[in-house]
Amino acid sequence: MPEFELIWNDETLKPEEFEGFFVGWENPPSPEVAYRAFKGASEYCLARIDGKLVGFITVFTDGFYIAYIPLLEVRPEYQRRGIGKALVRAAVERYKDFYKLDVLCDLRSVLFYQQLGFQWVSGATLVNTGRQSTGKT
Ligand SMILES: CC(C)(COP(=O)(O)OP(=O)(O)OC[C@H]1O[C@@H](n2cnc3c(N)ncnc32)[C@H](O)[C@@H]1OP(=O)(O)O)[C@@H](O)C(=O)NCCC(=O)NCCS
Repeated sequence: MPEFELIWNDETLKPEEFEGFFVGWENPPSPEVAYRAFKGASEYCLARIDGKLVGFITVFTDGFYIAYIPLLEVRPEYQRRGIGKALVRAAVERYKDFYKLDVLCDLRSVLFYQQLGFQWVSGATLVNTGRQSTGKT
């Protein structure tokens, strides 16, 4: 398995590279919607192997105080090779001088984030299921 590389805010990203992501989502976003969401994020980091997009993380931030991780995913066939942890560590390093780096996730993923130094706290979210595939149109 060739080594993966991490690239922040890769300008070469194309919508079609999102094919095969958002696994298990009831109403996954189209590649075009995913692409818009990345371009609207404050920053994103891509994991590539020989140019192929195998994982990503996105970040929203005010730029100096708090940062939030909305999306993290590694293609199923590339999981458990350290790519997910490397993406989170890259964000932790990038925002290490901020007050907080937050993420909202399910219980299984909390354990994953705890391995990376995050604390388990309570959270709340307001989900508009009917907009999962599109967001605001
Ligand atoms: C969570 C996820 C990004 C981990 O990526 P990965 O490249 O497999 O992670 P790593 O190889 O760096 O680390 C593996 C560790 O992640 C944890 N892990 C693996 N799959 C997981 C999953 N589906 N959910 C939560 N944690 C998981 C395990 O603790 C594993 O450790 P182990 O191999 O010692 O048992 C990946 O499973 C994924 O894309 N899941 C679907 C999307 C998701 O749940 N995103 C997180 C919510 S924000």
